[in-house]
Amino acid sequence: MTESHTQNLREEFNRWAEAGRGEGMEQDHLPITLPVLEKMSLEPTDNVLDVGCGSGWLSRRIAEKVPQGRVVGMDVSDQMVRVARRTSGEHHNVLYVTGEVGEIPWETNFFTQAISVESAYYWPDPAAGLQEIFRVLRPGGKFWMLINYYRDNPHCHQWGALLAVKTHLLLADAELASRKWHTSEWWTLHHRRKHTQADGFAMRRNFGLLRPKARCWCMAKRRERVIARKTA
Ligand SMILES: C[S@@+](CC[C@H](N)C(=O)[O-])C[C@H]1O[C@@H](n2cnc3c(N)ncnc32)[C@H](O)[C@@H]1O
Repeated sequence: MTESHTQNLREEFNRWAEAGRGEGMEQDHLPITLPVLEKMSLEPTDNVLDVGCGSGWLSRRIAEKVPQGRVVGMDVSDQMVRVARRTSGEHHNVLYVTGEVGEIPWETNFFTQAISVESAYYWPDPAAGLQEIFRVLRPGGKFWMLINYYRDNPHCHQWGALLAVKTHLLLADAELASRKWHTSEWWTLHHRRKHTQADGFAMRRNFGLLRPKARCWCMAKRRERVIARKTA
């Protein structure tokens, strides 16, 4: 099932890339990403993974903040990766790879931070994806997951039916609650206007105005050591 799911994802996001939708997402996703970029407090030598990097706009922004480090943008869609490479020529410290999050083509313990913007709910097996992110992060490394389609945000549930691929309604804090990750941190944006079911995708343009308690991102820190399970 995972293989065909991955293939569907690749084909669907290749279509998005060919239709120019990769670049368009920068404006849509910037409002939730900018505050997180600040929170990441990137050091010039950080190595950062951008999972589901799309057209690479975020990888490029991060690359400018880590001039002595390395940024790897990874996406299951080879066409997204092609767009990202085409537009990143001036950035010497960013590179893009085609890959599925459940099998990240990178070495263990390499990255100091990882981020994923509006991608995790598409992953065929989110637990396997998190496990792989854990593997490529250094102990103490941080993973930032930004999602606006999740279980306790009912205003977005309608999106699932509008998408051509299977999605998961995640509960990011629950997904990340494990012996391997340090307590995750949620952040909330506030919505200053009411919106209706009919808003559909148009709502994405109003991220600055999210509903009270709409939780947008979650940060988890890889534990230095995995805590042993208590035996009875
Ligand atoms: C909604 S787009 C967001 C792209 C980018 N992060 C942005 O904010 O513009 C979701 C991206 O996640 C990628 N993606 C979906 N499932 C993936 C997976 N299992 N592994 C890697 N990338 C995936 C898609 O190909 C797509 O480019």
